[in-house]
Amino acid sequence: MTSISYLTNTLLPLHIRRFRPSLSTLSCSLASDVDPTPNSYFPKRGQTLELVCESLAFKGKGLCKVTQTGFVVLCDRALPGEHFIGRVTRKKGNYAEVTKVKTITPPRDIVDAPCVYAPYCGGCKTQNLSYEAQLRAKEEQVRDLLIHVGKFSLQHLQLHAVLKPIVPCRIQFHYRNKMEFSFGPQRWLPKESLQDRIVDDDTNENYALGLHAPGFFDKILNVDNCLLQSHPANKVLAAVQECWRDPQLGFSPYNVHSHKGFLKHLMLRTGRDVTTDQPEVMVNFVTSSYKPELLKFLVDKVSVFPEVVSVINNVNTSVGNTSVGEEEYTLYGKSSITETLRGLTFQISANSFFQTNTYQAEVLYKLIEDCAGVKGDDSEIVLDLFCGTGTIGLTLARSVRHVYGYEVVPQAITDARLNAKINGIQNATFVQGDLNKIDENFGKNFPKPDIVISDPNRPGMHIKLIKFLLNLRAPRIVYVSCNPATCARDLDYLCHGVVLCRKKRI
Ligand SMILES: C[S@@+](CC[C@H](N)C(=O)[O-])C[C@H]1O[C@@H](n2cnc3c(N)ncnc32)[C@H](O)[C@@H]1O
Repeated sequence: MTSISYLTNTLLPLHIRRFRPSLSTLSCSLASDVDPTPNSYFPKRGQTLELVCESLAFKGKGLCKVTQTGFVVLCDRALPGEHFIGRVTRKKGNYAEVTKVKTITPPRDIVDAPCVYAPYCGGCKTQNLSYEAQLRAKEEQVRDLLIHVGKFSLQHLQLHAVLKPIVPCRIQFHYRNKMEFSFGPQRWLPKESLQDRIVDDDTNENYALGLHAPGFFDKILNVDNCLLQSHPANKVLAAVQECWRDPQLGFSPYNVHSHKGFLKHLMLRTGRDVTTDQPEVMVNFVTSSYKPELLKFLVDKVSVFPEVVSVINNVNTSVGNTSVGEEEYTLYGKSSITETLRGLTFQISANSFFQTNTYQAEVLYKLIEDCAGVKGDDSEIVLDLFCGTGTIGLTLARSVRHVYGYEVVPQAITDARLNAKINGIQNATFVQGDLNKIDENFGKNFPKPDIVISDPNRPGMHIKLIKFLLNLRAPRIVYVSCNPATCARDLDYLCHGVVLCRKKRI
């Protein structure tokens, strides 16, 4: 009998968060300035509707239903309880998207968003919803997905106390240890501030460094300070903002349409010096070509901060928008920073995965240890799937016989091996491989595990891996997820079986 625990990262504050529609209902009525009820089930593009937001859905969008038909409508920045008029902008299969035209009654549980950019920024969409209400929305979302996608009954979830209460984070700001800002040739300004625009379009003052406007890969909201990242990281951002537009320095922001320009992204990571416990910051300039002499001014500018211990240059010559370069150079200090979790030290390089909220990672890893139910007699085998830099496996290694970790990114495997070494852990083996492409030989290189940890990224697990786990019948599986929708889907397969052919499940 396999016991499966699952942990979604509901522990985290809801900024930069993905949602999917929940399925409860709420009615809404038509007002006089709203288009009459359509004959069709599908609202038309441009049509205005009077709506009430009932919950938060995919990407933090407000979920509403058209009164007469129950048709699902999503609205960016509509919050639970808000009564508003929306205009249909997009139709997508079985739902439509609307933009808010006017609020009739404000949402429940609103608070003043502390960040000046909050009304426009693509980074935080629910900052003006109280944290308690954000937690409730997330909990409801996970429960609904487990019922409707995972096919668990509410009775089962309640009877067996499957769904445990959400664990809030003790801080709601300055918790992210990694932020990525983009450079762009034109600042994006929200419509309402266009009339106040004093910036001359012909000058380089118009260049932007910041976060993407909601839903746009090519529009950047200029940001001087971000409440999600650490204070030292904000000092670095301000220092770069202060100088990079100076024409004499010769920097050009990368244009995602013409594919011209030098500066692509500014990635800031914050860790901790394990001996002094002081913050240490890595600054990663992602550029379209390698020009260290050009970057020197910025490197000198940011390296004056004592917290900056590493300045990296990732060179990405592709037209894609990713920050991972084909080549990586260390321009100042070390090539990685450190952080401690559950008493272990971890090296973090520019592109390796590390849980983005260090405070909640500590809480999450403790929950994983509890759910894994390690006996502590050094007898058990752990299989750590999607192991990244080995953090979960290494925290368990201290009390088990051996840990086997699998991960696709070669640099992460190098880091995992190094992390084992610097923590004096010898009973961990890390293997690079693509878990979406496993074949019948997978499983022959390690003993049958007693505990499986699976922590996939957002798409969840490949069906081949699910089938492998179903056949493996390990006594305990701990599924860690950052996407409750794919987690619910995979839990359905793992707990109720996979349909092989015509209703036959294994
Ligand atoms: C959510 S992270 C978890 C990392 C690690 N468990 C931790 O807590 O730091 C998911 C990891 O899965 C890796 N990954 C994504 N797709 C993969 C695949 N097809 N095969 C193996 N690893 C994959 C990513 O590179 C990433 O390191």
